[in-house]
Amino acid sequence: MKALVYQGPGKKSLEERPMPEIKDSTDAIIRILKTTICGTDLHILKGDVPTCEPGRILGHEGVGVVEKVGSGVRSVSTGDHVLISCITSCGKCDYCRKGMYSHCSTGGWILGHRIDGTQAEHVRIPHADTSLYKIPQGLDEEALVMLSDILPTGFECGVLNGKIKPGDVVAIVGSGPIGLATLLTAQFYSPAQIIMIDVDDNRLAVAKRLGATATINSRSVKPADKIMMMTDGHGVDTAIEAVGVSATFELCEDIVAPGGTIANIGVHGAKADLHLEKLWDRNITITTRLVDTVTTPLLLKTVRAKKLDPLQLITHHFTLDAIIDAYDTFGRAAETQALKVIISAG
Ligand SMILES: NC(=O)c1ccc[n+]([C@@H]2O[C@H](COP(=O)([O-])OP(=O)(O)OC[C@H]3O[C@@H](n4cnc5c(N)ncnc54)[C@H](O)[C@@H]3O)[C@@H](O)[C@H]2O)c1
Ligand SMILES: [Zn+2]
Ligand SMILES: [Zn+2]
Repeated sequence: MKALVYQGPGKKSLEERPMPEIKDSTDAIIRILKTTICGTDLHILKGDVPTCEPGRILGHEGVGVVEKVGSGVRSVSTGDHVLISCITSCGKCDYCRKGMYSHCSTGGWILGHRIDGTQAEHVRIPHADTSLYKIPQGLDEEALVMLSDILPTGFECGVLNGKIKPGDVVAIVGSGPIGLATLLTAQFYSPAQIIMIDVDDNRLAVAKRLGATATINSRSVKPADKIMMMTDGHGVDTAIEAVGVSATFELCEDIVAPGGTIANIGVHGAKADLHLEKLWDRNITITTRLVDTVTTPLLLKTVRAKKLDPLQLITHHFTLDAIIDAYDTFGRAAETQALKVIISAG
């Protein structure tokens, strides 16, 4: 089968690989229909994720058809169309029992990281019963690729951890796919204002279209000053970090209102300063989280009820044969205006 293989920092190739096989009775083999590329795949290619070794098939998002199941799999069977969660979970260990699937002792974020992933014609999914979701009839499967990772991430790490309530003032720093997924799901709670901050005017224009009440290009103005002005000097109830660099986390510290919450989503490779000398008396909360994908069933219902339209996040389409071009387009998002790129394998 064809697969996109990580060959060490800066290197990847589309290769012929053997078909995956059932290893444990709880495994399923899925034929991939559609997959996509995540910012995290670019992090891996930069060499930022040393736990991902050369030779690994990348990808942790996708939809497909169940081809084979192990003898212990109960909830899906051959021929079912399924959504693949970016988080693999056994459902039984202490962390899974607490709803922290991301820290499952035999799972977590392993797909396209510690085991071969979804940017291929076929993939082996361990703990299939609790890591796959049967796709209800009548749903657009392409839209559901956005539910493997980015929508649960924005919703769980940003919106739920950020405790967004009706009438709140929210700032989301970073208007990439994750920031935009946060923007879409924040609107479930009717905040009064959602201010999006980025350095890319195209992404800010998309944010405006998807429901931002205001946008700030932090290259042209000092975002903290502007937000203080816009909020009569109070700051925001929830400041969400969706970039993954120290400057944007520190911006969240500058704009959080007393009693507010900073919800970090970004993957940070370097330290960020915590200004306790300014924050100690502010009654604030700071949260961090690796997406658990515990809200996937809820998000499936919102898509089905047309309360959420994930198709708005898809900008480009490729076939698996052209996945190298897809990486190039996704990697030059500022020029290509790419958000999520769909790769069809089937
Ligand atoms: N916590 C989790 O479970 C989890 C899951 C998935 C992704 N992530 C992380 O979330 C972050 C966002 O992901 P993404 O796919 O949207 O990434 P992305 O790189 O596509 O988007 C980041 C956005 O930030 C903007 N940006 C860069 N520097 C900025 C600055 N100084 N000020 C304002 N904006 C700036 C960029 O223009 C871009 O639009 C990444 O760090 C990713 O690794 C975390
Ligand atoms: Zn991802
Ligand atoms: Zn577990």
